[in-house]
Amino acid sequence: MSKRWLSERRREHYHLRAKEEGYRSRSAFKLIQLDERFHFFNGASKVLDLGAAPGGWLQVTSEAIGEDGLILGVDLQEITPTGLPGVETLVGDVISEDTIQDIREFFQGKVDVILSDMAPEVSGVWDLDHFRQIHLVRVALVVANELLERDGWLVVKTFQGSEHEKYVHEVREMFERVKIVKPKASRKQSAEIFVVAHQLKSPRRLPEGFRQDDEES
Ligand SMILES: C[S@@+](CC[C@H](N)C(=O)[O-])C[C@H]1O[C@@H](n2cnc3c(N)ncnc32)[C@H](O)[C@@H]1O
Repeated sequence: MSKRWLSERRREHYHLRAKEEGYRSRSAFKLIQLDERFHFFNGASKVLDLGAAPGGWLQVTSEAIGEDGLILGVDLQEITPTGLPGVETLVGDVISEDTIQDIREFFQGKVDVILSDMAPEVSGVWDLDHFRQIHLVRVALVVANELLERDGWLVVKTFQGSEHEKYVHEVREMFERVKIVKPKASRKQSAEIFVVAHQLKSPRRLPEGFRQDDEES
């Protein structure tokens, strides 16, 4: 049995399960498995999901935090309404300040969990795609610095590559606890990996090299 064969079987397994269980994406299982390990949804009521289309992570989040929660999913693409209580969606580019302003206005305060499953459209040029993805997850750090509760959680998908270690170092500069994990539902052959960070350091501050306009709050 080749590794590739096993990996394809696993992919197919989660694809079928997503269909059977009514999830919009196979990625839903990655979030379920991450939460089973870290319990970041325990006690959470406000969750921001960056790169949320088609909405699998929104479904998982809604199931986890219940109908009193407030969940905002943001994506470049329109998300078909989920019909789930407390779930709102926004079409926007997280790189744009207008989108960040919309997010601020939506929550009117801090959030408990920030999720990012963002991935740029693949160009096929590995280095270019890698740099674009790292740029997106750096934006997630800027958003977290401003909007995350101090004891909040940041869960970010990233890809192994030249910039990955640097990114993890940046996350460690901001958070007390940082783990790098690959849930079972993520194919072994895929370079994707998840950074799960908890508890912003005090005072909150962006990593060296970022725009230093953050204030203690
Ligand atoms: C892997 S999908 C997310 C899947 C989602 N977590 C789910 O379970 O349904 C990645 C998403 O990131 C979005 N994305 C990429 N760049 C973005 C950006 N600059 N702003 C907002 N969303 C972005 C893409 O449009 C795409 O829908």
